[in-house]
Amino acid sequence: MCGIVGYIGRRDATPVLIQGLKRLEYRGYDSFGIATVGSELEVYKRTGSISDGEAEAAHLRGSTGIGHTRWAGYGEPTVVNAHPQIDCEGKIAIVHNGTIENYSDLRRHLEEQGHTFRSETDTEAIVHLIEERYDGDLLSAVNATLPLLQGSYAFLAIMEDAERIIAARNKSPIVLGVGDAEFFAASDLMPLLDYTERVIYLEDGDVADITPGRLDIYHGGQRVERPIELVDWCVEDTRKGGFDHYMLKEIFEQPQSFYETIRAGIDEDVRQMLMDADEITLVACGTSYHTTLIFKYLAETFCNVPVRAEMGSEFKYFTAPLNNLVIAVSQSGETTDTIAALNMAKARNCPTLAITNVQGSTLTRVADKTLLMRAGPEVSVAATKSYTAQLAALMQIINLRCEGAFDDVLSHAHLAIGDVLLHNLEDAVALCSRADHAFFMGRGPFYPVAMEGALKMKEISYVHAEGYAAGELKHGPFALLTPETPVVAICTPGPIYNVMVSNVKEVKARKAPVIALGVDGDKELAEIADIFIPIPDTHLLVQVLTASLVLQLLAYHTACALGRDIDRPRNLAKSVTVE
Ligand code: M6R
Repeated sequence: MCGIVGYIGRRDATPVLIQGLKRLEYRGYDSFGIATVGSELEVYKRTGSISDGEAEAAHLRGSTGIGHTRWAGYGEPTVVNAHPQIDCEGKIAIVHNGTIENYSDLRRHLEEQGHTFRSETDTEAIVHLIEERYDGDLLSAVNATLPLLQGSYAFLAIMEDAERIIAARNKSPIVLGVGDAEFFAASDLMPLLDYTERVIYLEDGDVADITPGRLDIYHGGQRVERPIELVDWCVEDTRKGGFDHYMLKEIFEQPQSFYETIRAGIDEDVRQMLMDADEITLVACGTSYHTTLIFKYLAETFCNVPVRAEMGSEFKYFTAPLNNLVIAVSQSGETTDTIAALNMAKARNCPTLAITNVQGSTLTRVADKTLLMRAGPEVSVAATKSYTAQLAALMQIINLRCEGAFDDVLSHAHLAIGDVLLHNLEDAVALCSRADHAFFMGRGPFYPVAMEGALKMKEISYVHAEGYAAGELKHGPFALLTPETPVVAICTPGPIYNVMVSNVKEVKARKAPVIALGVDGDKELAEIADIFIPIPDTHLLVQVLTASLVLQLLAYHTACALGRDIDRPRNLAKSVTVE
C-alpha cells in the first residue's frame, strides 16, 4: 500500500520524482524518500507527507532516480524505515511496494552472512540479497534474487555509476511511461499523466531493464514484447480544479461519471457473458462491496437472477459450489483480496469479469473480460465517483438482463444526481459533528446504501457510524440510542415506506434524533423526523444514487466541520494491496 516512482532520461530526476510521489500520495503518506544516481548514490528521506513541504529541500543530483511514499507495513513510519532502502555499502538502492513473506528467514540468513540491517523493513532484505549476488551486473543480481522472494513485490533498483533502473513485478503493479529518450515507472498511471500518454503495463514475473534510450523486458529469462497502450485520462482530471478537496470535486463529478459509464455501454462479448449466466457471484471490498450488495437487491428484484455478493477478504472461507459467472468489482483493480477471490474463481473454471476504473490494472489481467467504469482518476481516499460509476456499470447489467427496460431511467439519472449536489445539510451536519456515534438505517437496496453512508461518515469524519438493516436495530443496537445518537433513516416510497416510518417512530421513542431522507414533498416524514432531507421523487434505481450522494455530502461536511484531513484520512490508503 505504498507508491513507487522512477525516472530515467534527460531531466533532473528530483523534481520528477517529487511530483510523481505527490500524485501517488493517496496510496500512503506516512513517510517518503527518493534516491538518485549521478556519479554516486544520493538519498533523501523524511517522515510525514510529501506535501508537507519537506520535499522541497531535496536537491539530489542526477537524471536517474527512484522514489517511494509509504504506508507502514513492516516497521514504524520512521526515517530509517522509509524507502529507498540501501545495501551495506550504500551503492544500491531500492523502493518496493508489496510484502515479502519470508522476510524473517531471509534476514536471519543475510545477517549470518555479515549483512547489517538498518531498518525493520522487509524491503531491506531485497537490497541485501541483490548486493550478495552482485557480480558486475545489476540485472543479473536482481534475476538471481527474485527466486528467493516469497510474497508480493513491485520494486525499482538503481546503482551508483549506472544510468539504469531495474524494475521487477510480482502481484503488485508497475506501469512504465514511455517518453522521448526517457522512461517513467510508477505504481499506477497518476504520476505518468504529467509527461506521457504512452504506457506499458508490466505483467507478473516481468523484469524490465531500463536505460535512457532503451527498454528491455524479460519474462522467465526470455526477452518479451509488451504493447504500448494509450491512456485516455488526462492530467487535468487529477487536479482539484478550484475545489477545497478532491473528495468534493469527485462528489461533484458524479453526474458525469455515471453518464460516461452508461454512455460507454457494454461490449458485445461481455454482453454475451452476462446473458449466459444462470447466477452471478460478485466479490469486492469496502465501498465496492456495498455496490455489489445494492446490485444483489436490484438484480434479484428486477431480473430474477440469483446473486451472491461476497467480501473479497472472506471469499476463501466459503466452499459452496461455484460454477457460474464471477464478477470482481474494484475501483483500483489492485485490491489484493478481490484479486485473490477472482483467482479462486478462475481456478474453479468460472467465467470471470472485472468491473474496474483502471485500464491495465491487475484485475483486468486476471479476469477473462473487463467492463471499464468511466469515472476518471479518483484521488481522494474516500470512494465517491467510482461508487457511482460502479453502480452505473451494475445497473447496466440489470438493464441488459431486463432487455432495456431501464434505458430511459439510466440515460436521465445523471440529471437527478446533479439535483442533490447543492442540498443544504447544515442542520444534519451540526447534529452529526456533535455526535460520537451515529446509526444509518435502510431497507432493501437502501440497507447497503446506509452501510455506505456509515462507512463514509466514519472514514472521513471519525464519527463512529454503523449501517444497519432498519429491522435489525431493535435486536441489540437500540441499547445504544440516546439523545446524542443521530439515526439517519432512508425512507423512500414503495414497499419499504410504511415499515421504515414505523422504524423511525421506534427510534424517536428512544429519544434518538432522526435525520430522514425521503422524497420531496413527503410531509408525513418531514413532521416525524427532526431533520428532513428531500431527494427527488424518481425511479428506485435513481433514488439509490441520490440517497447515496446526500450521505456522501453529509460525511464530507461533517468531516469539514470537525477539521479532518478530508482526502487523506488517518490510517487509510486508497489502494489496499495486502491481505
Ligand atoms: O479499489 P477498490 O474498489 O477495490 O477498493 C476497495 C476498498 O478499499 C475501497 O472501496 C474503500 O472502502 C473506499 N476507499 C472507502 O471509501
